[in-house]
Amino acid sequence: MKIAFFSTQPYDVTFFDKENKQFGFELEYFETGLDEQTVNVITEGTDVVCVFVNDKVDAEVISNLAKKNVKYIALRCAGFNNVDLDAAHQHNIRVCRVPAYSPEAVAEHTLAMLFTINRKIHKAYNRVREQNFSLNGLLGTNIYKKTVGIIGTGNIGAVFCRMMKALGTEVLAYDIYKNEQLEAEGIRYVELEELFTKSDIISLHCPLTPDTMHLINEDTISKMKDGVMLINTSRGKLIDTHAIIQGLRAKKIGALGIDVYEQEEKVFFRDLSGTILEDERLQLLTSFPNVLVTAHQAFFTDEALTQIAFITLDNLKQLKTNNEIVGRNAEL
Ligand code: NAI
Repeated sequence: MKIAFFSTQPYDVTFFDKENKQFGFELEYFETGLDEQTVNVITEGTDVVCVFVNDKVDAEVISNLAKKNVKYIALRCAGFNNVDLDAAHQHNIRVCRVPAYSPEAVAEHTLAMLFTINRKIHKAYNRVREQNFSLNGLLGTNIYKKTVGIIGTGNIGAVFCRMMKALGTEVLAYDIYKNEQLEAEGIRYVELEELFTKSDIISLHCPLTPDTMHLINEDTISKMKDGVMLINTSRGKLIDTHAIIQGLRAKKIGALGIDVYEQEEKVFFRDLSGTILEDERLQLLTSFPNVLVTAHQAFFTDEALTQIAFITLDNLKQLKTNNEIVGRNAEL
């Protein structure tokens, strides 16, 4: 089986080469992202394209993949909002993903972002390096006894619910499907309206779908408590960036932590330090003292990358040998 990787970073090569020792597939790595132009770099005999979060796998790209006899699209991530599944099915291209590799990795990063924006660790780090040992402006609040609203209680959201519960907070959750186990552990499912109005901290863990696009917008922000802390480690388009900037300016949003960003395709996973950033909204966001941006790194742990590489290759092995993936919800 020949697999063409797109958006390849050095760590992808390290982890996939290591795990591939037990699979023996032919791996071809491309640094470029996949789109309607770069689809042409795929060489003859390629069975699989392996893509990541910002590769563009729309109907046009899929039709070109079909012309090149590509049989599988393997997402090396959980989210699949960037793939036109209908087009893939029409062309008989099978699509698989890694539904859960290390929900703890993402939940722990979410927690790190919460602690950082609350206690202003990003500011403190810089101050001390400049020998500024003043505490003025670094005041935080206790997380203990606060109300935390968690939207999406799947693999990652459930881990984050438990982390928050362990910190002594009241956890309100919203999901289109309730997790009864979480309810038994004291997590209370409420309607979105109640979650928005009562939460001191809101964290997003639902996928990007037509229903969740711009879930955080001018209207929903207006329902939130003054000074609310908002964290998004899910997908950038869950938040209307223009509305969040207005919310920050109006001091409605007390602090914001984002690991994902609406227009991240053009900037994340690249070293642009020698250039002038053309994305004015991102530039503005990073200039706010109460905003922390990380560049889609919540998944980025040794354990997660090992699991991602293993599960991606194992998905393909199972599809090739058994024509199905047994025991997990990996085929789309
Ligand atoms: P999951 O599929 O296990 O859970 C998603 C949950 O969201 C499900 O319980 C589902 O019922 C719920 N949901 C679906 N539509 C909803 C709606 N309209 N309103 C509220 N809830 C809704 O997914 P998992 O593994 O927990 O991942 C969640 C998201 O995190 C992914 O979709 C992905 O976008 C993002 N992610 C981000 C990473 C990062 O590095 N920043 C890494 C991995 C995932």
